[in-house]
Formats: sequence, structure tokens, C-alpha cells
Amino acid sequence: METGFFFYIVCCFLIFFSKASIAIDTISVSESLTDGMTLVSNDGSFALGFFFPGSSKSRYLGIWYHNHPMQTVVWVANRITPINDSTGVLKIQSSGKLVLQVQNTTAVWSANWTATVENPVLQLLDSGNLVVRDEKRYLWQSFDYPSDTILPGMKIGVDLRTGFQIRVSAWKNWDDPSPADITYGVELVEGPEMVLRKGSEKLYRSGLWIGNGFSGSQDYRSNPFFVINFVWNKNEVYYTFLLKNESVTSRLVLNQTEGVRKRYTWNPETQTWNLFSMRPSDYCDTYGVCGPNANCENNKFPFCQCLTGFTPDWSKRSSNSSEYPGGCIRSELQNCMRGDGFIRIRRVKTPDTTNLWANKTMNLKECRARCWRNCSCLAYTNLDVTKGGSGCAMWFGDLIDIRQFQSESDGMDLYIRVPASEIELKKRANVKLAIILATVIAALLGILLVVCYICRSKKKLKAESEGNNVNDKESEDEDLELAIFGFAAITKATNNFSFRNKLGQGGFGPVYKGKLANGQEIAVKRLSKSSGQGLNEFKNEVKLIAKLQHRNLVKLLGCCIYGDERMLVYEYMPNRSLDSFIFDQTKREVLTWSTRFQIICGIARGLLYLHQDSRLRIIHRDLKVGNVLLDREMNPKISDFGMARSFGGDQTEANTRRIVGTYGYMAPEYATDGLFSIKSDVFSFGILLLEVISGRKNRGFYHANGSGNLIEHAWRLWTEGNSSDVVDDFLVENGDLPEMLRCIHISLLCVQQHPEERPDMSSVVLMLGSRNELPSPQQPGFLVYNRPFGADSSSGNDKSSSRNEISLSILEAR
Ligand SMILES: *[C@@H]1O[C@H](CO)[C@@H](O)[C@H](O)[C@H]1NC(C)=O
Ligand SMILES: *[C@@H]1O[C@H](CO)[C@@H](O)[C@H](O)[C@H]1NC(C)=O
Ligand SMILES: *[C@@H]1O[C@H](CO)[C@@H](O)[C@H](O)[C@H]1NC(C)=O
Ligand SMILES: *[C@@H]1O[C@H](CO)[C@@H](O)[C@H](O)[C@H]1NC(C)=O
Ligand SMILES: *[C@@H]1O[C@H](CO)[C@@H](O)[C@H](O)[C@H]1NC(C)=O
Ligand SMILES: *[C@@H]1O[C@H](CO)[C@@H](O)[C@H](O)[C@H]1NC(C)=O
Ligand SMILES: *[C@@H]1O[C@H](CO)[C@@H](O)[C@H](O)[C@H]1NC(C)=O
Ligand SMILES: *[C@@H]1O[C@H](CO)[C@@H](O)[C@H](O)[C@H]1NC(C)=O
Repeated sequence: METGFFFYIVCCFLIFFSKASIAIDTISVSESLTDGMTLVSNDGSFALGFFFPGSSKSRYLGIWYHNHPMQTVVWVANRITPINDSTGVLKIQSSGKLVLQVQNTTAVWSANWTATVENPVLQLLDSGNLVVRDEKRYLWQSFDYPSDTILPGMKIGVDLRTGFQIRVSAWKNWDDPSPADITYGVELVEGPEMVLRKGSEKLYRSGLWIGNGFSGSQDYRSNPFFVINFVWNKNEVYYTFLLKNESVTSRLVLNQTEGVRKRYTWNPETQTWNLFSMRPSDYCDTYGVCGPNANCENNKFPFCQCLTGFTPDWSKRSSNSSEYPGGCIRSELQNCMRGDGFIRIRRVKTPDTTNLWANKTMNLKECRARCWRNCSCLAYTNLDVTKGGSGCAMWFGDLIDIRQFQSESDGMDLYIRVPASEIELKKRANVKLAIILATVIAALLGILLVVCYICRSKKKLKAESEGNNVNDKESEDEDLELAIFGFAAITKATNNFSFRNKLGQGGFGPVYKGKLANGQEIAVKRLSKSSGQGLNEFKNEVKLIAKLQHRNLVKLLGCCIYGDERMLVYEYMPNRSLDSFIFDQTKREVLTWSTRFQIICGIARGLLYLHQDSRLRIIHRDLKVGNVLLDREMNPKISDFGMARSFGGDQTEANTRRIVGTYGYMAPEYATDGLFSIKSDVFSFGILLLEVISGRKNRGFYHANGSGNLIEHAWRLWTEGNSSDVVDDFLVENGDLPEMLRCIHISLLCVQQHPEERPDMSSVVLMLGSRNELPSPQQPGFLVYNRPFGADSSSGNDKSSSRNEISLSILEAR
């Protein structure tokens, strides 16, 4: 007590005589906080004082993180009334009123309440909450008047007794903390959800709170940092988050420019904020992108699919979009009651709540019965999915902003009304199928089996006529599954594109390793932003690439589109690329001759598929050992295929303005004239083959005999009849030498000067697999690389290095 008093005296003394910052967290009636002083919370995490936001000349009173190297302001008192000199003083009056004065008189901001108080004090708590309290209670707290930031423990919601609402609103801009029109808070019509708005327009909804999370955002569930608490009773409804570990710092903040809500966590090692999540985070997160009565699904093309029983509303379709922004309308007038039924759509975000009706105690059966009786009820579901499900939510009118999730644990089941005909259609389709099948089987297997089958199909029919059939089957046979990954998921998977996750830099952008929430490992190629492709073009290209499927091609899992960011997501290859083995003095021995031969054959088959067997006739244009990845069993997989075609810029069939490729692999006619064909890929394959056999790089090869590169060297030895000298010493000792010599022979055929003399890949595959006589190779196409290539057009160069080689894309001057 005595020391406390002494401390108090010292503090008063200091406040009176000093403008320095003082580590106290409380001021009482006789004291004040002037410009230049700060109040620091007891544990030192937060500070209250005057600051200049951004490059502004105006002063504001605010709260920021005390120990961080850069000032992150979490709360501002006088958001709309800046102070333009240093005369600002914060005082607590004996009535308890908190005032911020300038020039000794004008109050630019104040906080007051009606209760009478004794000895009020102002205190900055460790949570970042600024409170006015007396001995017993808090009379006022800054947490009730948040700015743009939600801190742990802050309650965002509505007091249902008084109607008092707590919402956050973004700063106007970096220099101006006054409230802008992006706001975020709980909205309760009949059921509560979080809504991000720009003015009165909705930007993002979380979906209904369904007991264990929001139906539209459950990806935070297993995170290590925080838990979400949501309270909805007759007195209040609010959202809050609490930290699982007090030593972690996490905040939610709105951004006016981007129109998003972001969550950051503090990284104490790098002393920076890491973006943890963002809403909206992907295409389908955006409010109502598909219009009414459609389901947005990120792995479908187009994203928007009409719900069962609805057809696209062409009258409202925008002329330049392949989506259905006009939404969907009933495919036929409803013949209410007589035979209407419900089908279940699984794993979706609940529709917009504007026309919701809810009852917390009804069960699903009562809910269904009630919805069925009223023709304008279009959908129903449980309000709470925990403990087997309870409560009833019904929608009267258009169903807006539904989105489909893939993960079993996300979203919830929604039952939508469909006309009798839809259900009939399904039944009839099943019956038809059953009849056809039965006939065939009857012809083959006889009466007995037919009887059995009918028994079974009857049972099946009966089960399905209950009306609970699942909607997601019918669309599965459409296109192949190609996932659209959310930007947040990708940033999270790649640790925010951490340099630690970077696997390499290819010609079209860097590649990162990532791990999805479900544990799957992926490789993410972040395309350079310069490609300038539109959204639909990009989607079409990705769709085309995804159709190329072969065991010797890296599998494209999906893509991610965010703003002007374009990313491709591939399966991850644990053994990285071929060059990391063959050019490595220790690792090269892992690849014995027989493994290398298998790899060579695999690459040849993959390339043959690209050239001939796929529907698209892809010319790779950048085949090299660095673009051949190895899976766990050392099976080769070609990567980066289709990239040049799709993302390499303007081109015609045989001529390109933009040369994409790598020094040392480019066929002469391609490197000098920009002419490419499947034969330029054959040339690159020949080089690759030589490199795999010799363990040396074509480029950067020097030999005492004066050869400037590996082909020249191999050709010289071939003419001298000493081909076996090309082979890596370590291979000579333990491999099939005739097979190696044959491969050298094939590679020399591939690198011949004239494209028409080179074999095509189907011949190469045959030659590799047989022991027949091979034709004699003509002189290879040497390239003199000493002269800097394309130096005269270097201004438009966009070079990016890939290890020791250079991947090029040069804009040819025309
Ligand atoms: C600065 O403050 C003075 C005194 O309150 C006021 O007269 C003046 O208009 C203010 N200037 C600006 C730019 O707000
Ligand atoms: C404010 O009041 C103090 C003491 O009452 C006085 O010394 C000071 O000059 C005043 N400042 C202004 C700007 O009026
Ligand atoms: C404080 O009281 C004044 C006058 O009664 C009122 O205009 C103002 O809105 C009150 N401020 C708060 C934060 O309640
Ligand atoms: C909002 O985001 C933009 C772009 O990332 C950034 O430049 C700006 O500083 C952010 N604004 C605020 C107030 O944080
Ligand atoms: C809390 O976080 C700190 C630092 O990140 C860590 O060292 C500590 O083990 C964590 N505590 C718990 C209980 O997880
Ligand atoms: C079509 O696209 C142009 C430019 O991309 C845009 O300005 C226009 O609003 C679009 N029209 C419709 C009907 O969406
Ligand atoms: C909600 O359902 C319960 C049980 O079915 C019923 O007693 C109650 O009246 C309903 N409330 C409303 C507002 O309809
Ligand atoms: C159907 O529900 C709507 C909305 O709750 C209500 O206005 C209407 O009266 C109901 N109709 C019938 C026939 O119950």
C-alpha cells in the first residue's frame, strides 16, 4: 500500500514535469495525458498515446502494440476529429467523463455514461482495452467502440435488450482513420451471421452460425492460434475470439482499399505480421457471385451451377461472361403441394438470411413438414448441426450466395424444394437404366439373375423415392475434376510463399512447395504477373492443360486465381528434378544405368503423348533435365508442359514472337529464327539424353580437344569411333554398354542440324525399345553460345535464372 502510494506520487511528479513516455497504465482524475506521453499496459503489450497515421500531419489519440518495431494502431479515439497541434490532452473528469481537449478548452472527443461514479480511473489493460472503472466495475471501455481492428476478447455483436451494436469499420485510408464504408459485424435477422459490407452492399457473409462454426467458413477450426466463441441467447448475440496460447498475437482488421477482412498473426522471429486468412478469400466467397438459386463451386467450370430444378436466367446473363451472373429461375412453374419434394445438397454454405425464418427448438422433421406446407418455402435445414442436429431454418424466396465445399467437414446439408417432375425424372431415369441393364443381363445370364436384379433395383428405387437423394452425383460425369484453390489456402499451404518453401524458379515464375490442410503435398507455380491473361482465358488454358494426363507428365491438380495473381497447383514430386541427381557427384550413383534407361524411356513416352496422342499436340519448347521431375519410385514426370503454348504470349503455328527456352537445349532453327515444331522438342530430347548418359551439361562444357559443348564433343568422339568415352565413368563400370552406345546414337539422330532429318518421338520410342539397325546421324546442329544471344533486343528481356541455366523468354524485335 505504502509503496503504491509512493509510486503514485512519483508518477504525478513525472507527469507534471516530463513529456517522456512513462510506463504507467492508469491515470486518475487529477491527472492527464498530454501529447508526447504514453500510457503502457501493465505487461507492456499495448500503449496509448498521440500518433500521426501514415504521412498525415494530424494527430490522433490511439492504442498500438507497444513492443513492435513498427506502429500498428488498433484503436483510435478521435477518428473523425483530428488534432492539428500538440495541445491535445486526455483527462478524466470527476464525473467520470473522459474528454480529449485541445487548446485547453475545445473537446474534440468524449466518452460518458449516466451512472454516478466515485473515484473513477482510466486504465489501459493488457488486452488492449482502455477502460474507465471505479472499484467495482467498468463504466466505459474502448472495446465497445472498436475502430477497424478486432482484438482477442473483444465482443462484436448486438445487445438485444438495448439494441446497442458493435461493428468495426475500416479506416478511410492509410493516412486517415475516420470510418470508411467497409464494415463488419454480426447481423441477426432470424439466424445470426457475420457480414462484411461496403455501405449497404454485402461483400461477404460467413453463413449461419451452426453451433460449431459458420456454415461458410470453417477452415479455421483446427488452427493452433485461436478459438472462436459465438454466443446467441435472448439477451445478446456476439462473436469473439480467444487465443489458445497467450504468447501468440493475432488480430482481425478491415482494409478499405481491398474490401477485405484479414487476420494476421505476429511472427516474433521476423518481427512482422503474417497473413493468416482473408475474407472473402476466393471467387465463391464473394457475396452472391452466381446470382439467385445457383451454387458456386470452385472446382467446376463454370463456377456457377444452377440448383436442381432451376435453369439459367438468360435474360439477365451478361453478354461477356460464361458464368450465370443473372442467376437461375425455376425450370417450371411449381405445382405446389402435389408431389413437390426436397432434395439434399451436401456441404454448402447456407443462403442469405434476408428471407429466413428460424425456430431454435423445432427438429428437422417438423421443419420439413412446415416448409412443405407453405409453397413459398424454398429450402430448409437445421440451425445447429451439433448433437445430431436441432433447430429449423427456412428460406422464403430466392436462395442467394450458396457455395459448395469439398471437404466433408465443411458446410452443411441444405434441403431444397424441387417440383415433382424433377423427382419423377430421377426415378424414371433409374427405371430406364434398370430395364436396359436387366435386358442385357437377362440375355447373358438368364432369368434367375434378372429376378435378383429387379429385386435389388426395386429396393434401391424405394430408398431413393424417400426424397433424400444426393445432388452431387449428377454433375460428376461433366468435366474432369479440377480444383480451384482459395488464395488463403495456398498462402497458408506455402507458409505465405516463404522463401524456405521455394523449390526453384522456372521460366514462368517461382515454384513453391506447400502442404494443404488435409496433409497433401503440392507444388505451386506462381505465374509471373506479366502474362496479362483474362480470367476466362486462363481458366480455359488450365482446363486444357489439366486434360493432358499421362503417367510421365506431372499432374495438374488445379489452379488459384486471386486478383491478378494466377497460380498452378501440381502434385509434389519428392525427388525433385533429374538434374539434382545426374549432375551431383554424390547423388548420381543413385541412378544406375537401368534406372536411367527407364527414365529416358519414360520421358520419351511422355513427350510422344504431348506430340501425338493428346488431343492438343503440345510442343513443350523447354524440355530439359531440370523440367523432368522424379516421383518416389524414380518415375520421370515432365513438368511445365503446355506452359509455352498457353502462357508464352502471342504465337502462330510455327513462329513465335517470344522465344521460350533454355540455352543449351534450343534447336538452332528455334534459337535463331524462332521456328519451333515438334522437331525442336526432339532436339532438346537429344541433348537431355546425352546429358543423362554423360552426367555433364551441354552448356558450360569444355574439353581439352576444343569442343565447345557436349554435342560437339559427342559428335567428335562418334566420328573417331570412341563414343564410349562420352559415358559417365561410373556408368561404364556397371551397365549395359551396348545399350548406352545405342542411346548415344539415338541422341545424335535427335540433334541433327536439319529438323526434317530428326526422327519424331514415335520413332525414338521404337528405337529405344528395339535392337534394330539405326540410320547414321548427320552432323548435329551446333550452336555457338559464346556470343550473347539476342543482345540487340535486350531491352525487352525478361530473364529468370534456373540454377545454372538461363530460361529465356525474349521478345524478338520485329
Ligand atoms: C487547427 O486548429 C485551430 C484551432 O482549433 C482551428 O482554428 C483550425 O481551423 C484548425 N485547422 C485545421 C486545418 O483543422
Ligand atoms: C492551458 O492552460 C494552462 C494552465 O491553465 C496555461 O498555462 C496554458 O497556457 C494554456 N494553454 C493554452 C494553449 O491556452
Ligand atoms: C456524452 O454526452 C453528450 C451530451 O449528453 C452526448 O451528446 C454524447 O453523445 C455522449 N457521448 C457518448 C459517447 O455517450
Ligand atoms: C490495405 O491494403 C493495401 C494493399 O495491400 C495496403 O497498401 C494498405 O496499406 C492497406 N490499408 C490499411 C489501412 O491497412
Ligand atoms: C505458446 O507459444 C510459445 C511461443 O510460440 C511456445 O514456446 C509455447 O510452447 C506455447 N505454449 C503452449 C502451451 O502451446
Ligand atoms: C463486359 O466487359 C467490359 C470490360 O471488361 C465491362 O466494362 C462491361 O461492364 C461488361 N459488360 C457486362 C454486361 O458485364
Ligand atoms: C418454435 O417451435 C416450437 C416447437 O415446435 C414451438 O412450440 C414454438 O411455438 C415455435 N416458435 C415459433 C415462434 O414459431
Ligand atoms: C408462408 O410463409 C410466409 C412467410 O412466412 C407467410 O407470409 C405466408 O402467410 C405463409 N403461407 C401460408 C399459406 O402459410
